[in-house]
Amino acid sequence: MSSSPRAEQTREVRTLPFHHVVPRLLRDPVQALAEIGMEADGEIVRLNAGTFRPYVITHPEHVHHVLRGNSDNYVRDGAFWRPFRPLFGNGILSDGASWERSRNALQPMFTARHVESLTGLMADAVADALERLDPLAAAGHPIDVSAELTKIVNSTLVGIFFGDRISLAETERLLPAMERIGNAVVLRIMLPLVPKAVPLPGDRSFRSAVRAFDDVMASLARRHPVAPRDGDDVFTLLCRARDASGGELDSGFVRDNLVAMFATSIETTIMALTWLWPQLAAHPEVSRRLSAEIREVVGGDRVSAAHLPGLGYTRMVFQELLRLYPVAWMFPRMVVRREVLGGVRLDHGDNVLISPYLTHRLPSLWDRALDFDPERFAPSREERRHRYAYFPFGGGPHQCIGAHVFNTMGQLIVAGLISRFQPEPDPAPARPRPAVTLRPRDSVKITLRRVPEGVR
Ligand code: HEM
Repeated sequence: MSSSPRAEQTREVRTLPFHHVVPRLLRDPVQALAEIGMEADGEIVRLNAGTFRPYVITHPEHVHHVLRGNSDNYVRDGAFWRPFRPLFGNGILSDGASWERSRNALQPMFTARHVESLTGLMADAVADALERLDPLAAAGHPIDVSAELTKIVNSTLVGIFFGDRISLAETERLLPAMERIGNAVVLRIMLPLVPKAVPLPGDRSFRSAVRAFDDVMASLARRHPVAPRDGDDVFTLLCRARDASGGELDSGFVRDNLVAMFATSIETTIMALTWLWPQLAAHPEVSRRLSAEIREVVGGDRVSAAHLPGLGYTRMVFQELLRLYPVAWMFPRMVVRREVLGGVRLDHGDNVLISPYLTHRLPSLWDRALDFDPERFAPSREERRHRYAYFPFGGGPHQCIGAHVFNTMGQLIVAGLISRFQPEPDPAPARPRPAVTLRPRDSVKITLRRVPEGVR
């Protein structure tokens, strides 16, 4: 891997030709991009996919530069982000002043200290949801992990974020709408020069999915001026937010941020926890150690905040899981002003692809890069790796606001599941398919058996 990521002299960027790129992307985009990343080994390359020609950026120094060092020059705009604008509007998933206002309004809810204060609530919601799995364990049939996690995560996060203002039935309708949006925008991304007025397949499905969000979130947001001002759920925080001159923000601000919070929090958490089970099936020694730690720490108790500090190995398993399966697998940027990065001249309007999925799999950064090995994250072996060799939660000003929420809730769910049940994962390996988040191609199944009382 080149050690001079930034140089003012320019070189001709290696461009992968259309006939090399497009068939591979159509066959298996995640695998194709991972291979392209490995072949490039940190060098910036350009993909020729017709009218759409993004740069692929994987070197940790370059990632640092784009996400943090010179982040003002790399914004959430361009071919990738524009098709999503009718959905996300000008909330925390935008950029510039509207992003900053949203981030300032939401940030207090996501500090480590505030999340810690919510841990008891989360633990209760998780433990209640897990008790509802008993009949499934008694039936002994394989269950669809994502479907069950959806119920657990929904009942935990929706209560905390939205109070009782959104029903579980409504959130369960919105998750498929989110998935439809991911599928519907692909052509718009691939054909950025086609004007909006020219219809493309997927447009109608996109509009109907946005309407589903508006039915719930926009109508909730319109009630905001009369909303009660107590409580510390996301809705109340957004209603209380003020602009720089102290003025009240409009219902569009509330709607855009409700949609963004929903889109970023629920599916990422469900998908990250879904990827765990195929890894445990393939690595029985990891599975045994994880179960042993959880049985020792949680035993027969209801899982609670007090158990979290004892779950050191569980945390290592999560870190390794997010190395190989970083569910926010791709987050693009658009170049604002011309500059040279890694010897490559980037011009205004160019799209760059940043992908932890690619960087986390580079053999020049990671020993046995494709092996699942939580020991990499053992505190005694904390390797001196580059901050941006591992960035499942992004970095710089847009760094994930929900990392503490994910880590806390994820550990509660996994510790609760493994202490209450003996989950037997289906041994079928899971392969990723591209969506807005990284999802397994086929549904992941596990069979639950109640742990006998004496063993717990
Ligand atoms: C495994 C779970 C999760 C992963 C891997 C993840 C990853 C990420 C990444 C990579 C970004 C940066 C995107 C960019 O730079 O464009 C991001 C942003 C964000 N995430 Fe997460 N996330 C997860 C869970 C959550 C949860 C649970 C929440 C909410 C509680 C959340 C809320 C957000 C928000 C609001 C942003 C936008 C922040 C900003 O632009 O200022 N995420 N996330």
